Amino acid sequence: MRLFCCGSWKRARRGVAVVSLLTFIAFVPGALAFERDAAWNNTYSQGLALYQQYCAQCHGKNGEGGLGLPLNLQSFLTIASKDYIERSIRHGRLERGMPPLAALLKPKQISAIANFVKSWQFEPSKAVANGRVDGDPANGRALFNGICVGCHGLKGEGGPKTGGGHIVSSLSGFAGPALSIQGFLKSATDGYIKATLMYGRVGTPMGAYLKGTQGFVELSEQEINDIVAFIRSWER
Ligand code: HEC
Ligand code: HEC
Repeated sequence: MRLFCCGSWKRARRGVAVVSLLTFIAFVPGALAFERDAAWNNTYSQGLALYQQYCAQCHGKNGEGGLGLPLNLQSFLTIASKDYIERSIRHGRLERGMPPLAALLKPKQISAIANFVKSWQFEPSKAVANGRVDGDPANGRALFNGICVGCHGLKGEGGPKTGGGHIVSSLSGFAGPALSIQGFLKSATDGYIKATLMYGRVGTPMGAYLKGTQGFVELSEQEINDIVAFIRSWER
């Protein structure tokens, strides 16, 4: 009786262990990072080859950045959707040197590159607002002029291009990317811009501005919405 009881209990315990292991394998990696499903597997090597051909010269072999922004930062990947990366490839940022590739590459190839870039993500994605953010662009302009122009330019045209990367250059100061060009505005959703302002980009001069994130300058969520509305007003 005793043996029977404990044997079945052991079996049950083993069963529980197997089930929790399966749950871990099935759900945790998906919850933690970008879903690496069958489609991702199938396009990985194609994405890698296309990335090396079309992107690596500016963004670095491993997405570490160079002439272009780093693409392998967790604080970028956890808020940037695959769609944002695809739209960035299609529209480019011509004024800043990144060519639009919509006419050159097929949608499937663009998707493969975006999947490959997303494969650098290992931290869980953050929640990013959907749709338009409700803000007051006039107040946003005042805040932008006070806080952002030093790095992003008086009209959001971006900091000086140095060819030496965007991270920090003692000669150029902190070159921020352009925020008023259409290639950026057509790629970025309000939620993506808002999340960038809230959490910043760890390891770059772009700070986290949300109150409580220990940024140098702290903003309320409404003030962040106001800045997003002002940046959006540059879209044509
Ligand atoms: C000739 C250089 C060049 C090439 C080639 C290039 N880029 Fe870029 N890319 C840039 C620059 C420069 C920026 C930043 C624009 C700015 O400073 O305003 C950028 C910005 C981006 C951004 C926005 C990053 C962010 O933090 O929001 C993404 C995404 C991106 N590039 C992806 C790609 C991918 C993928 C490819 C290959 C298909 C590619 N780029 C090819 C120069 C390039
Ligand atoms: C000290 C310089 C600095 C200041 C101040 C600054 N930024 Fe940035 N910002 C940067 C840099 C550098 C990057 C690119 C970070 C990277 O390498 O990914 C960036 C990235 C961004 C991006 C992402 C752009 C893209 O292509 O994905 C947005 C949006 C942005 N900043 C908005 C703002 C706004 C709005 C303010 C003011 C509240 C601000 N920044 C203040 C330097 C700065």
